[in-house]
Amino acid sequence: MDRFIVRGGHKLRGTVRVGGAKNSSLPILAGCLLADGVSVIRNVPDLRDVRTMLQILGALGARAERKKNGDIEIDATELTSHTAPYELVSTMRGSVCVLGPLLARLGVAKVSHPGGCVIGSRPIDLHLKGLRALGARISIRHGYIMARGDDLAGTDIFLGGLFGSSCLATANVMMAAVYASGSTVIENAASEPEMVDLANYLNKMGAVVRGAGTHRIEVVGVRKLRPAKYTVMPDRIEAGTFMMASAITKGEVGVEGAPRGTMAAVFDVLARAGVRVEADGDTLWVRQPRKIKATEVATLPYPGFPTDLQAQLMAMMCVADGISVLTEKVFPDRFMHVAELARMGADILREGPRAIVKGGAKLSGAPVMASDLRASAALVLAGLAAKGETSVARVYHLDRGYERLDDKLRALGADVERVKD
Ligand code: EPZ
Repeated sequence: MDRFIVRGGHKLRGTVRVGGAKNSSLPILAGCLLADGVSVIRNVPDLRDVRTMLQILGALGARAERKKNGDIEIDATELTSHTAPYELVSTMRGSVCVLGPLLARLGVAKVSHPGGCVIGSRPIDLHLKGLRALGARISIRHGYIMARGDDLAGTDIFLGGLFGSSCLATANVMMAAVYASGSTVIENAASEPEMVDLANYLNKMGAVVRGAGTHRIEVVGVRKLRPAKYTVMPDRIEAGTFMMASAITKGEVGVEGAPRGTMAAVFDVLARAGVRVEADGDTLWVRQPRKIKATEVATLPYPGFPTDLQAQLMAMMCVADGISVLTEKVFPDRFMHVAELARMGADILREGPRAIVKGGAKLSGAPVMASDLRASAALVLAGLAAKGETSVARVYHLDRGYERLDDKLRALGADVERVKD
């Protein structure tokens, strides 16, 4: 397993281009299963999670490969299996989004139950509720979700849960409904930009998906989809992570190609924290003129502040002036980074879904352990600001969702080294 050695104290300077969105790529790659023929998906980041998804598509019989020019080619003409195996799904929860397209294309799907992960229990009740509403017969047996239904019928489905909308449940139902007879309306659908990206791809294949980006999505069933070429949107979470890396090091970083129209909540938090963000064409310049100011934030479904940036913001708040309050309204247990940040000198009080961060910490480098994708990013950011050396173990968590993060940070002047354990 690799680890990062981060030596803090360097202001980040320069520009970095944002890659394709992981959380668009995964459902879109799954959506390739819906059509027989060759789809070409562009701007897909080279991540562990993407490689896992390509392995799953391969296990289903599709030819899934990344060409030399970086494009991903998926030939889903011949699907020889309807089973997404445990050994792959267990390494990446996002694989659950093959359930909807498999059911729509083959009328049958067997997907290992994704289980939970370190950011909390990850129920799939909404996924199953939506598929059952379309007429699928679903059972959970020996750790697998078994779904059958070769005559799905469109219907109205309320897909809101205890924590609001669900991204991948919306994706699964959207994709399962493309061949259902009649029209399906998903109420309290996830309105995340990645859902718009998925709908755009499906519509390019000949589906009829309306209202993506709102909480009411309509899917009118069609008979057949054709494969399509599609370019994935930029990753708003990677963009936000680099903006916070600039701020925490009091640097001056230009983030290029960020999907600015999807980041209002992030800009609002950074503005309240005293971080100056100036747009110059395609580049967002992040300058940290003074101390970072403490602030209060709650994570919420889109367009609220994204839960995937909560850990990175917490790292920033550790060095802010004053007391910040971060409330997790999406994943109330998503605080694995708190204990590790405390090892670096952070002063954080966890109270249920709330973390109270006493700012002004003089962070010092320490050996810390990555636990999940975004918590790992938070530890790297803290290491950039800490005095001395931080060793972040198990960076495979990072590699799941960030492409060459160490290279990109080094190019901005950070002292980050990847070493093999
Ligand atoms: C997607 O996960 C993202 N992953 C997550 O990003 C992201 O944090 C999350 O959406 C929220 O934005 C991918 O797109 C691959 P949810 P998803 O269903 O769809 C509850 C990252 O770091 N819920 O939107 O699995 C759930 O427990 C990852 O890139 C139910 O109650 O998340 C949570 O509280 C982490 N029942 C809330 O909904 C269900 O059936 C939102 O979860 C499904 C979810």
